[in-house]
Amino acid sequence: MEIITSVEELQSKLTTQKRKKIGFVPTMGALHSGHIALVKKCIRENDISVCSIFVNPTQFNEKSDLKKYPRTLEADSNLLEDAKLDFLFAPGVKEIYPKGEKSSVKVNLDGLDRKLEGAFRPGHFDGVVQVVHRLLNIVKPHKLYMGQKDFQQFTIIQKMIDNLKMKVELVVCDIQRDFDGLALSSRNRRLTKSKRKWANLLYMNLLRTKELMKFNTVEEVENISLDSLGLPAGFKPEYFTIINGHTLNKVTDWKDARYLVALTAVWAGEVRLIDNVILKKTKKRTN
Ligand code: PAJ
Repeated sequence: MEIITSVEELQSKLTTQKRKKIGFVPTMGALHSGHIALVKKCIRENDISVCSIFVNPTQFNEKSDLKKYPRTLEADSNLLEDAKLDFLFAPGVKEIYPKGEKSSVKVNLDGLDRKLEGAFRPGHFDGVVQVVHRLLNIVKPHKLYMGQKDFQQFTIIQKMIDNLKMKVELVVCDIQRDFDGLALSSRNRRLTKSKRKWANLLYMNLLRTKELMKFNTVEEVENISLDSLGLPAGFKPEYFTIINGHTLNKVTDWKDARYLVALTAVWAGEVRLIDNVILKKTKKRTN
């Protein structure tokens, strides 16, 4: 594996590999098995694999959150080397934003960025779009690998790819979970022991929806779930909501969409956790 920090060097290495399929996994580091699953899929499905580690300042709406973000480059590069990655791209802020952090791409996201997570983290998805757009222009991959864990994020990136007619295929990978069902996340290491004990409640609640939806309305299921998420001391549910997976709009009836997803966000003490499950997805895209 080669570790590269400059855009120019990465591009010159990649252009000598013309006609080979390039796969790309963007990350912010502090890697866990969820990230590594993406990387392994990327390695399996392409001739050349690139993973980036860049803690993107423009997607943090709280500067203190940016400061606290774990930076573990040495451990990360060992994991990527073991996985047999070809190129680790670990640039500094000036490499990614030579014209300053304000320069951004204009994309019509049809309001996808203002719902759900966007309502709680203003400006967050502008930053994500900005950095993924820049990284795609640097790496120019055939396939881009992202996790279902961040449902709204990959939906927005797909919208950006479609709107800008970018030549890249987005591959969405399943959520990797801990032994008890908690979705793996770099933030889990900040959970206290007692909060960690209860944290799988997010997933249990999401799974239970599949049963509850047989006998309850959407509103009833959302209320039952919000109530139980608030039960452990120190847990504050932010939302539990059923949406149309294409538009991210809330549904009020189970028949409102052919693609139904339950999404949730909860504060477990100081740590904000998110998770989701797909409840229904039929191939034909009519709504
Ligand atoms: P980061 O949080 O490091 O996540 C990188 C990728 O790993 C994302 O596509 C995310 O959905 C995926 N991922 C995280 N946890 C996962 C899990 N438990 N199972 C499967 N995939 C998982 O998301 C970002 O970074 C940034 O916003 C980024 C896209 C890199 C832009 O800065």
